[in-house]
Amino acid sequence: MAKSIAVFVGSLRKESFNRKMARALIGLAPASLKLEIVEIGGLPFYNQDGDDGGNPPAAWTAFRERVRAFDGLLFVTPEYNRSVPGVLKNAIDVGSRPYGQSVWGGKPAAVVSVSPGAIGGFGANHHLRQSFVFLDVPVMQQPEAYIGGAAKLFDGEGRVIDEATREFLVRFMEAFAAWVSKNAPRSP
Ligand SMILES: Cc1cc2nc3c(=O)[nH]c(=O)nc-3n(C[C@H](O)[C@H](O)[C@H](O)COP(=O)(O)O)c2cc1C
Repeated sequence: MAKSIAVFVGSLRKESFNRKMARALIGLAPASLKLEIVEIGGLPFYNQDGDDGGNPPAAWTAFRERVRAFDGLLFVTPEYNRSVPGVLKNAIDVGSRPYGQSVWGGKPAAVVSVSPGAIGGFGANHHLRQSFVFLDVPVMQQPEAYIGGAAKLFDGEGRVIDEATREFLVRFMEAFAAWVSKNAPRSP
């Protein structure tokens, strides 16, 4: 059976290159993966009082329950000031609590960073990986995906124009499928 993958996009912008990339990756993925974008823009900012008082916002609870059901995780993110955009960091924080009940641990993951700049979001990509060490998320090491020059990457329909980049993305998703099948927790 296909493995289910939650896709998180670290940008809320309507014309986001990262959202285009997420959609392109969904289209290029092998049939062994079933991917769907999980929206994070409506999550209230994490505030521990919500969990300590036993009355967390409904959007946190729904997000946690939804993410828990997936077999794996794919993060597609821009870099903000050489780090992870707040909206994505907030989603990670919301999913990580209450302490001891994180939804992230053990789920195989991959990171793609996309930027119009030349460095391809390297800073965000690696700051995310820093959180994943603590959260016990087995994140694919190779191939790495730092996608620069994003403003010239897509046509009007959101397709990846450059053949070499498209081939790389296909290989990336094949490697991710293999990573998920090796590391996904067994169903009970
Ligand atoms: C607050 C902010 C900080 C940014 N910092 C960086 C940065 O550190 N490195 C970078 O390559 N681009 C940076 N950018 C430019 C983004 O890469 C660019 O806006 C990109 O289009 C965002 O991704 P999106 O198209 O998916 O929204 C920054 C943009 C914003 C709004």
